Amino acid sequence: MDDRPIGIFDSGVGGLTVLREVERFLPQEDIVYFGDTARVPYGNKSQSAIVKFSTENARFLLKKKVKAIVVACNTSSALALDHLENFFKVPIFGVIEAAVNKALKISKNRRIGVIGTRSTIASRAYELNLKKKDSQALVYTKSCPLFVPLVEEAVLSGKITDLVIHKYLAELKKKKIDTLILGCTHYPPLRKSIAYFMKGVSIIDSAKEVAVYTRRILADNRLSAAKSKKGKINFFVSDESDNFKKLARLFLKRNVSRPKVVSVSGHG
Ligand code: DGL
Repeated sequence: MDDRPIGIFDSGVGGLTVLREVERFLPQEDIVYFGDTARVPYGNKSQSAIVKFSTENARFLLKKKVKAIVVACNTSSALALDHLENFFKVPIFGVIEAAVNKALKISKNRRIGVIGTRSTIASRAYELNLKKKDSQALVYTKSCPLFVPLVEEAVLSGKITDLVIHKYLAELKKKKIDTLILGCTHYPPLRKSIAYFMKGVSIIDSAKEVAVYTRRILADNRLSAAKSKKGKINFFVSDESDNFKKLARLFLKRNVSRPKVVSVSGHG
């Protein structure tokens, strides 16, 4: 048994979709959540900036004595995970591998779509991972930069949302994919609207997959917390954001305590 907390970081509040699933699958675990609200978005930044920010975020979590780190941010997972794994000793879980495994498990026609931020899609991380595990898989990708602001403004359905979904996903639909990976923390709240447009396509949400994966690895490594207790969650952000509470409600479907504002930059 190991009662130290699990650390989760994201570029902002989108990672709460991952927190929600980790909470659901590992209710006994304490969690320290850090959202880099001062430097969000990561999705259109360079690899060197994303590596620097991600390293600083991980260092902050390690100061909180976490036993493992979940990199909720897809952009960090795509561009900084190798660096973090080489640099730090605790187990570090990205969101990509878990979603890729699930997609390959359920796709029947081996035609898989992946959507994410510009940097995630440009990195080809999902595509290379899918191809490494199944060279026959046909992978179609698309960056959807307007999805993040849509979700931040809670515009989850209706005309504008449908138009943007059409703009980004019409091409993918023509490719006859049977599985679509939502490769961004912000996309799960759009799931219903995306599923409606992509009728018949299985939608994979990396948040749930990484939570299940984390549970398995913690158990395999005897790092799970005692089952008898209910986990506590502490929230930290790098900038005060009026939107945090509102978005937290959207992502977590409940109210959260006020996050503490901390500075992590310069600790890379
Ligand atoms: N957290 C980012 C991701 O999952 C989305 C928001 C951003 O661009 O920072 O890729």
